[in-house]
Amino acid sequence: MAELTLLSEATDPGRAGLDGIGSAVDEALGLPEGSCDVTWRQCLTGTGTVICLLTTDEAGYPDTDQQTRLHQSLSKALRQSLNQTAVNIQLAVTSRSFTPPLVVSRPIATVVGGRTEIRDDNWAEVSSVIRLDPEQFPAEALSGIEDFSQLEVVFHFDRVPVAKIETNARHPRGNKDWPLVGIFAQRGKNRPNRIGVSRCRLIEVSGHDLHVKDLDAVSGTPVLDIKPYMSEYGPRSATRQPQWATELMRDYY
Ligand SMILES: C[S@@+](CC[C@H](N)C(=O)[O-])C[C@H]1O[C@@H](n2cnc3c(N)ncnc32)[C@H](O)[C@@H]1O
Repeated sequence: MAELTLLSEATDPGRAGLDGIGSAVDEALGLPEGSCDVTWRQCLTGTGTVICLLTTDEAGYPDTDQQTRLHQSLSKALRQSLNQTAVNIQLAVTSRSFTPPLVVSRPIATVVGGRTEIRDDNWAEVSSVIRLDPEQFPAEALSGIEDFSQLEVVFHFDRVPVAKIETNARHPRGNKDWPLVGIFAQRGKNRPNRIGVSRCRLIEVSGHDLHVKDLDAVSGTPVLDIKPYMSEYGPRSATRQPQWATELMRDYY
């Protein structure tokens, strides 16, 4: 079972066109013919991109190869280039409740270099590059950033499998010595939406590359946003945190 919602500036291609798109999804995901329902919504996407929001249950959730095939099949069926076909896949919360995703983001940059393995501690001095996507942005999109010493980086934990997402409470790092706390009361990577937020040091700017240190995102991580850090955005009053958080962070940097 899968549901595909297409957001496009073009008009609805008609029943036969929608069925053809549904068949392309079925084939790419190895689903029986007729499994994918397709809905077309004409709306301003701003760039001519067709946004493809696919909601599927766990059994039909595509692996990496299927995701690539799905992207290719959809762009072919829609007669769009790959760049102009944005595919967003969401796991249905229950097999009876198919909720289309409300937010779609295209990564603006990628982390290059630094660590490759997922590891918890010792991120201080790890050097990496945040490479702005030259297809989407000229280097001028970074002009002036060199005047800041620190950046805030929003990124996608793309290496967290959907099946590992925690929606409830858990012991941070699985450590039973620490209390059971809700996923939104900790910063673990296995979180709904898989969004990470980090501060790092900006060392050098070169064209589309930001050379940084202390960024706790591994090589290949898709970056959703980059902001210069301004001290006024820091805490405006004294901070407090539980003892377990202080212990957890002891060797983080
Ligand atoms: C606890 S998270 C904290 C990240 C960020 N500072 C935050 O608070 O949102 C850091 C962990 O995410 C892991 N990690 C980094 N990049 C990742 C990626 N692309 N996918 C999955 N995990 C990643 C790191 O190995 C590290 O263990």
